[in-house]
Amino acid sequence: MDLITALEGLVPELQRGLDQASSLEDLEGLRVDFLGRKGRLAQIMSLLPKLPPQERPAVGQTANSVKERCNALFEERKNALEAGREAAALARFDPSLPGRAPWRGSLHPTTLVMEEICGIFRGLGFDVASGPEVEIDHYNFESLNMPPEHPARDMQDTLYITDTVLMRTHTSPVQVRTMLSRRPPVAVVAPGKVYRRDSDLTHTPMFHQIEGLMVGHDISMAHLRGILTAFVRAVFGADTRVRFRPSFFPFTEPSAEVDISCCMCGGKGHVNGEPCRVCKTTGWVEILGCGMVDPAVYAAVGYPEDVSGFAFGLGVERVAMLKYGIGDLRMFFENDVRFLGQFA
Ligand code: DAH
Repeated sequence: MDLITALEGLVPELQRGLDQASSLEDLEGLRVDFLGRKGRLAQIMSLLPKLPPQERPAVGQTANSVKERCNALFEERKNALEAGREAAALARFDPSLPGRAPWRGSLHPTTLVMEEICGIFRGLGFDVASGPEVEIDHYNFESLNMPPEHPARDMQDTLYITDTVLMRTHTSPVQVRTMLSRRPPVAVVAPGKVYRRDSDLTHTPMFHQIEGLMVGHDISMAHLRGILTAFVRAVFGADTRVRFRPSFFPFTEPSAEVDISCCMCGGKGHVNGEPCRVCKTTGWVEILGCGMVDPAVYAAVGYPEDVSGFAFGLGVERVAMLKYGIGDLRMFFENDVRFLGQFA
């Protein structure tokens, strides 16, 4: 057969092949078959040397032109296949679907409140101190004026490790440790975990407290009131009312409990005519215990008799519940991300 006819025949034949090609892989197969090193075009051209020299240029030109047209056909088919692929992908993709938000971590509300409170006291000149969660009886009770027969030392209330080693039941032993290692004046807050043998709707075996201690010369109850009022207003808002109610703690004398006007009902006792579930209609909620450090505590740590100062202790979860209006203590320990994520 005449080579020019054979070459020209490749174009419609390729066109038929391309019409049936349904993938880019099919296309590549055809390219090898037609234009590859041992492909159809190359096979025809291998016959060129057998032609008389004067016929060769025309065949060469036809070969070039066929090759160009074949390449154009490939290109066209490739574009069509790619466009089809994209359209199919787009058909599967619904651009109106909402995006998937990246997962954002957040601090636990207990951590947030603990950091906020420590920040407030740092601003008032306090240092942040810490102590061990496994504590000796001597620092947890004895030095805080709770002698062996004191009811708080009961096995019912305290998690003992040995007769003299226990899980601290409050952060108050950090007071003792601070005074043992530093001379007055001192002003510290000590945040941390505390443990009690208690577990019901409103008590968990572990919770968080912040202890505060300020000892120096001529520190009075007025300083205690001033500092704690400033603290409460920083956390709960400048309109919060504060009241100091006489109370008792073995390690302070006199002692007080601090109530703040209920942040749920604004101190009115009712919300939309319903009794306030946070303050039980009293308009006040208790927030911390405090007092002037008992001289017996100074004696236990070897402080001179002429110092004076105050201490206080508060429950972090309790502050967080009041601040954020959280009704259930268990929320803090279940670690449900739907709850925790709200504090991001
Ligand atoms: N340690 C007390 C408790 O766990 C809280 C407390 C009350 C700490 C009065 C104090 C204080 O420093 O002065 O209930």
